[in-house]
Amino acid sequence: MKQKIVKKGYNKIAEEYSVQRDEFKNISFLEKFEKLLSKSSLILDIGCGAGVPIDRYFVEQGHSIVGIDISEKQIELAKKNVPQGKYEVKDMSELKAGEYQVDAIISFYAIFHIPRESHQELFVKLNSFLPSGGLILATMGSSEWEGEEDFHGVDMYWSHFGAEKNKKIIERAGFEIIFDEIDTSGGEKHQIIIAKKV
Ligand SMILES: C[S@@+](CC[C@H](N)C(=O)[O-])C[C@H]1O[C@@H](n2cnc3c(N)ncnc32)[C@H](O)[C@@H]1O
Repeated sequence: MKQKIVKKGYNKIAEEYSVQRDEFKNISFLEKFEKLLSKSSLILDIGCGAGVPIDRYFVEQGHSIVGIDISEKQIELAKKNVPQGKYEVKDMSELKAGEYQVDAIISFYAIFHIPRESHQELFVKLNSFLPSGGLILATMGSSEWEGEEDFHGVDMYWSHFGAEKNKKIIERAGFEIIFDEIDTSGGEKHQIIIAKKV
């Protein structure tokens, strides 16, 4: 199962990934999203990693965080880095409809680690976690690719569609897209989507 490769990989490289993490400059997207949130929102972070800089930013803005990640090591780091957050080891592909009830959802650089055939189902489940008008910010792959490659010295798996198909998947899951941009920071291309539950 591909998730085993991902879990094993991030358990090994969690600390190293954290050290180089800031090369992705997310602050403008975080600020854009934060301005749309109600005060003291409860935010679910899918594939939260070590909790920095994303979760720490939202906690500092007065919001609450629940983070899930498949890697035990990442969750251990997140608990240390963001003690105000609630964190649990969980595979996003095993989430159940209605399992969480939150005001907003974020997911940075994580959804493309599960097989792309399951992206549609995942967004339908994420939609069920939100109230009407609830917001999601997700980073997605910018072009079609699936495979395994070396990542910081471990075997890693990615699976994603391109930007147009991602948009369709998210719309079909019951969201209206309100922001869609290709982020080229860190020498990579990622699609950043902000969408609202219709
Ligand atoms: C590139 S890191 C990004 C971490 C964090 N979102 C950030 O922006 O720093 C991807 C994260 O997704 C997590 N992840 C990958 N597949 C997952 C899955 N099936 N369920 C939950 N988390 C997963 C990894 O363990 C890793 O922590």
